[in-house]
Amino acid sequence: MAHFEKANSVGEWLDQRLATKELARVIALEYWIPKNINFLWSFGMILATMFMILTISGMFLLMYYKPDTQLAFYSVNYTIMQEVGFGWLFRHIHAVGASIVFLAIYIHMFTGIYYGSYKKGREMIWITGALLLATFSAEGFSGYMLPWGQMSFWAAQVITNLFGAIPVIGPDLVVWIRGNFVVEDATLTRFFALHVLVIPLIIMGVLGAHMYALRIPHVNNQDGEDIDYEAEARKFKAGDRSRSKVMPFWPTFMAEDIFTLAVFLVFFFYLVFYHFGFAMDPINFIPANSMKTPPHIYPEWYFLWSYEVLRGFFFNANMGLAAFGIANAFPFIFPFLDRDTNHVAPMHKRPLMKYWFWAFLFVMIGLTVWGKLPPTGANAWVGFVLSVSWLTLVLIIMPLFSTIEKKRREG
Ligand code: HEM
Repeated sequence: MAHFEKANSVGEWLDQRLATKELARVIALEYWIPKNINFLWSFGMILATMFMILTISGMFLLMYYKPDTQLAFYSVNYTIMQEVGFGWLFRHIHAVGASIVFLAIYIHMFTGIYYGSYKKGREMIWITGALLLATFSAEGFSGYMLPWGQMSFWAAQVITNLFGAIPVIGPDLVVWIRGNFVVEDATLTRFFALHVLVIPLIIMGVLGAHMYALRIPHVNNQDGEDIDYEAEARKFKAGDRSRSKVMPFWPTFMAEDIFTLAVFLVFFFYLVFYHFGFAMDPINFIPANSMKTPPHIYPEWYFLWSYEVLRGFFFNANMGLAAFGIANAFPFIFPFLDRDTNHVAPMHKRPLMKYWFWAFLFVMIGLTVWGKLPPTGANAWVGFVLSVSWLTLVLIIMPLFSTIEKKRREG
């Protein structure tokens, strides 16, 4: 077979068998990225790197962790933190990484919202992104349970209880999820299985779909400009690089990405070494005790906004649960709430939606801050106002403003 004649290098040998040159061409060398983007477009790559860091650090923790209610707390707080060489470092990387990955997710999402990257052909990028948010949330929640401290136990108690509110099947579903009538050993072992195997596998698949969904509509840019990729790529390849509106993924875009990633990692490792406590609740250094409820139960910071939407309707549990359902479904329906979907433009160029954007960001931060406060007295009412504002902004103002904008533009 002429195709497999003697190769002159390892690269050629591999290319004969795996078509590596064609693969590199399709994946990186002729994958065109607009030049008109800023550092915020590097957060996708930052997230992919954080997923790798979490997987590797988690793999080392797994070597000493014991998924047993009698042993879990001590395997983490004593064996890993004190006995195993550098165990503390891997735990800090994993715990800080799990928290900081959500900061990166929210920055990445708000970048997409600001620049309209969920519109016109990019809906599947957004929806696979929403799936990543859901799967990362499940991963964060199941991981938080593993140290089996007081907050692990009580957060699991509160969250699994929520499923009980689903009509008809709710109570049985709670027992099925817990593996018992109460949160205990069976619950811990199944959340362990989900955390270390099932959810990471799902994340990897969805991540592949997210990357694939980018190929046809291409990455958006700061002006929402519809670029003629073929013409611009031809210009670039003909040597007219400075006038072309695009650059290849490798090496140009990657060089920019790696720079932003390096800055992010400096910040990340600063937290790992000097402020690791911010990712660990002090109450979770007390072993789980089913007989002693902590005075105030709250989830990790990245769930606080939706938790506050739930608590905002403190006078009616069903209303709170309905609002919480909307908060969780919201990332999936978001692209369809913007009624001006064919016009891609950044928020500062949208006459009404720019006010919506800043109000929305403000309310999300407000919900996150109030979600951590005890829901009593004035706090409860502030929570109510914030929850109602959130629902109004998402369900009424966004479709209304975008419809008015569309009519004015076309009108
Ligand atoms: C959690 C893991 C995630 C990873 C690893 C990831 C990765 C990436 C990468 C590498 C890109 C291309 C470069 C860039 O624009 O940054 C991208 C783009 C995008 N992602 Fe994600 N993403 C994640 C989560 C999300 C979430 C939660 C959403 C929204 C719900 C989302 C929505 C988008 C959108 C709309 C784009 C297109 C941006 C554009 O065209 O300008 N992603 N993502």
